[in-house]
Amino acid sequence: MSTAAPLTDDEVGILLTAAVHAPSMDNTQPWRFEVAGPVIDVRLDEERLLPAADPAGRAMRIGLGAAAFNLRVAAAMLGHESAFTIAPDPADPAVVARIFLSERNGPVPGLSALYGEITRRHTYRGPMVEQAIPPIVVGALTGAAEAEGAVLHWLDEDAKRQLAQVLREADDLDLHDEDRLHERAEWIGGKRPDDGVPDTALGPVPTRPAMVRDLSAGFVTPGRDQAAFEEHPVIAVLSTEDEDEHAWVRAGLALQRVLLTATSSVLAVSFLNQALEYPALRGQIRQLVGGHAWPQMILRIGYPTEAEAGTGRLPWRDTLDRWF
Ligand SMILES: Cc1cc2nc3c(=O)[nH]c(=O)nc-3n(C[C@H](O)[C@H](O)[C@H](O)COP(=O)(O)O)c2cc1C
Repeated sequence: MSTAAPLTDDEVGILLTAAVHAPSMDNTQPWRFEVAGPVIDVRLDEERLLPAADPAGRAMRIGLGAAAFNLRVAAAMLGHESAFTIAPDPADPAVVARIFLSERNGPVPGLSALYGEITRRHTYRGPMVEQAIPPIVVGALTGAAEAEGAVLHWLDEDAKRQLAQVLREADDLDLHDEDRLHERAEWIGGKRPDDGVPDTALGPVPTRPAMVRDLSAGFVTPGRDQAAFEEHPVIAVLSTEDEDEHAWVRAGLALQRVLLTATSSVLAVSFLNQALEYPALRGQIRQLVGGHAWPQMILRIGYPTEAEAGTGRLPWRDTLDRWF
């Protein structure tokens, strides 16, 4: 791959706008970018971490991996092949991924087709239609995870029953953890135009037990709708073979490829990650998916019954540290 000429202002805008639309836990957007000629560094923003809920920085790196995937998709749409390395510089551990762009040619097949989904994708926390996902779409989602070196494990009814029990325990722990409650209050609820999760994106309160995470649990959020959720949710666990910083970034790339592929099939996704935020409970989920892989994200996938309410983003220029 030959090295490309420096990027134009328009190109950097398109690339970083795509990157900042990635999902991140509590929408903290824990990323900074540096552009050096045709090379883009995705850096961890030490001021946007969640030390109580994510002490190892696992979720943060998943978000950065998702942002790196969006960058590659936008680059592909612009006509750049891209190569990337994870944690390229031991002397600068804040650089989580480095992306090298090739000379600009025609749109790169495959990745470029996902570009239009980047701004259409939102986390959807409402009820799904009770309708099976066609096997061909299930296959495409499984393939999307595999293309980025991860595994998507679809839960059967028995595994879902066990997951429901783990989720109840996680919800209970969440409600009684003062540090996490304080931390969530900094990011969840109210009006939040640029970051965090506003009331409008919380989804309705379930009228009967449901497999959904209420991000505002423990807080009063007046005026929220109530709704009955689907009785048979479709749940898949995204896992990686390894459990280290590289694997977390890989999980983020895989997550975003799955999410954009889902969006292209008008599917919506929400997450049940409370079960992965406590080591003992995460161990139970690991057993649930065979005991060999490391669960990184739990996805509820389906056809939405309502329009999705989005979350805000910081302007891309505010995330750019250096450009030379
Ligand atoms: C690693 C990670 C963990 C997440 N965990 C949850 C979760 O447990 N429950 C949930 O509702 N959303 C979860 N989210 C979704 C974020 O809240 C969401 O991506 C963020 O608010 C931005 O909104 P958007 O996805 O609509 O763009 C998670 C996202 C990431 C990347």
